[in-house]
Amino acid sequence: MTIIVTGGAGFIGSNFIFHMLKKYPDYRIVCLDKLTYAGNLSTLASVEKNKNFRFVKADICDRQAVYKLFEEEKPDIIVNFAAESHVDRSIENPDIFLQTNILGTATLMDACRKYGIKRYHQVSTDEVYGDLPLDRPDLFFTEQTPLHTSSPYSSSKASADLLVLAYYRTYGLPVTISRCSNNYGPYHFPEKLIPLMIANALNDKPLPVYGKGENVRDWLYVEDHCKAIDLIIHNGKVGEVYNVGGHNEMKNIEIVKLICKELGKPESLITYVADRKGHDMRYAIDPSKIHNDLGWLPETKFADGIKKTIKWYLENREWWETIISGEYRNYYEKMYGNR
Ligand code: NAD
Ligand code: DAU
Repeated sequence: MTIIVTGGAGFIGSNFIFHMLKKYPDYRIVCLDKLTYAGNLSTLASVEKNKNFRFVKADICDRQAVYKLFEEEKPDIIVNFAAESHVDRSIENPDIFLQTNILGTATLMDACRKYGIKRYHQVSTDEVYGDLPLDRPDLFFTEQTPLHTSSPYSSSKASADLLVLAYYRTYGLPVTISRCSNNYGPYHFPEKLIPLMIANALNDKPLPVYGKGENVRDWLYVEDHCKAIDLIIHNGKVGEVYNVGGHNEMKNIEIVKLICKELGKPESLITYVADRKGHDMRYAIDPSKIHNDLGWLPETKFADGIKKTIKWYLENREWWETIISGEYRNYYEKMYGNR
């Protein structure tokens, strides 16, 4: 079995590669990644020498490079994590989100049609459903919830999902889609809420909370997401969408206060800053389908997952300090300087 994992030098893709190489020692895992600001080859250092692993630097929009890799590797399965993934960046500059997230997905699926594969899996997001109101805790996103996006990022991901389903219906491409809630864990890029707050708190820097910090996200430990995708590519039904989430809803401010507590830092570091434009209020996944059909359940409780995550950031300072000392500084200044 040969699996091409695109975007495998990023947060979730790298965790997925570690999971797969460990669980399936006879599978060949090929990582295709453009190494954008969010991709980090050092993340994959521990598997670099594994004889079942290959890394290829390429853009999923580069048709020639993608076709060449398919010719060389004759993959059975493609798992597409490659994307521009940060909502705030999509608000600043939508264009690259449309290129990578929509056109890149189409290019990968064209390669799948041309060379034939057993499965194309699209890693999507709960953000395609838009948001839910705070005063209706009885409402959840199901696979039937209409797509109703808010940001250029979520719109590009929803567009990709529609293309994936169109390739299934029109060309019979064997596809599956997973729509997961917010992940956290090792190798999470420090522009996102949890790693940003951990890094800033450790450096005694202000903790920038958007608006009043009342927005709710449904947090899932990254390993649980990887296990869900593993189940879907092996046992999921072609043409189906699976929502993935662990019923772990928390307000942003609760998370930030918890991080302060775990690190022994004062809450006076918390700074309320201008809200995100079009900020989604609440995400909440109903994971009944993947539970009932594939037996998936999250294994890591948030209380344990956040401790493990903080421990990882404490023990791997070099990884994130290298990131925040480079180009990231300009980004941070631009996004938070006058917020
Ligand atoms: P990330 O930003 O950490 O990593 C993205 C990776 O894709 C990087 O390694 C980057 O170099 C690579 N990449 C970007 N553009 C590329 C291109 N044109 N060609 C090849 N590689 C390219 O993202 P993540 O948080 O790991 O998210 C991975 C996927 O999961 C995304 O599709 C995202 O939409 C989805 N998702 C993320 C979350 C979350 O909480 N992080 C939740 C649900 C779904
Ligand atoms: O729900 C899945 C999505 O989760 C994925 O599809 C995205 O790729 C991923 O980035 C994530 O999107 P969010 O916008 O929910 O994540 P982010 O970490 O950027 O923000 C989480 C919440 O924290 C959100 O309500 C905005 C808020 N926030 C974020 C940052 C970076 C702050 O209050 N301050 C900040 O500095």
